[in-house]
Amino acid sequence: MHNASLIRPASPADAPGIAQVHVESWRSTYPGMLPDRYLIGLSTATHEKRWRSLLSGSAPPRGRRTFVAQETGGRIIGFASCGPQRTGLPGYGGEFYALYLLDHAQGQGIGRRFLAVMAQHLLVAGTQAALVWVLRDNPSRYFYERLGGDLLAEQPIGFAGTKLMEVAYGWTDLVPLARLAADPRVGG
Ligand SMILES: CC(C)(COP(=O)(O)OP(=O)(O)OC[C@H]1O[C@@H](n2cnc3c(N)ncnc32)[C@H](O)[C@@H]1OP(=O)(O)O)[C@@H](O)C(=O)NCCC(=O)NCCS
Repeated sequence: MHNASLIRPASPADAPGIAQVHVESWRSTYPGMLPDRYLIGLSTATHEKRWRSLLSGSAPPRGRRTFVAQETGGRIIGFASCGPQRTGLPGYGGEFYALYLLDHAQGQGIGRRFLAVMAQHLLVAGTQAALVWVLRDNPSRYFYERLGGDLLAEQPIGFAGTKLMEVAYGWTDLVPLARLAADPRVGG
């Protein structure tokens, strides 16, 4: 049971744990969507380096914030990051950039809690509305629908030499999402 897991802002020391979740969850989520050779080639060492530099105080991208979920015992079982919207869709100042959990940590309310924590962060930063881009073929898109996201747009993207379609879900008011942190199903 992981509902008692702690969600907290990430620090550079979390880079190895985040990299491990990143690689494991991509390999479990994206077969059939991303090329096998890309998934096989994912390297925790490379991602650890990237995450360490992203999380280090030297040059964090403006307004970006990353959170981790840590289970009892200290293992990182998920991460999420958000910040200013990058794609220029009008009316949505914020963006949920990433949200990934290890398989065994899914389906227990942690994803909902991550979204709530990111919504709270964006609201405190003065952003009322946000969106997320997700691969059209990723069944996790229905998680965002369940959490009240409206389907906003669809666009092609090139990734690892493949043409893919992604869809955007948006929330014009982050307040109800932020309030989910108080949902008893979400745990502490
Ligand atoms: C998507 C993800 C973050 C959801 O987190 P989670 O902790 O498993 O989801 P929760 O337990 O918080 O679920 C919240 C609600 O969404 C629903 N939900 C979760 N995943 C769903 C899915 N794939 N389809 C439909 N509903 C879903 C749950 O049933 C729950 O509904 P309820 O309110 O009726 O109980 C997680 O499953 C994950 O890491 N998936 C793989 C990585 C991924 O695809 N990330 C998104 C990349 S953009």
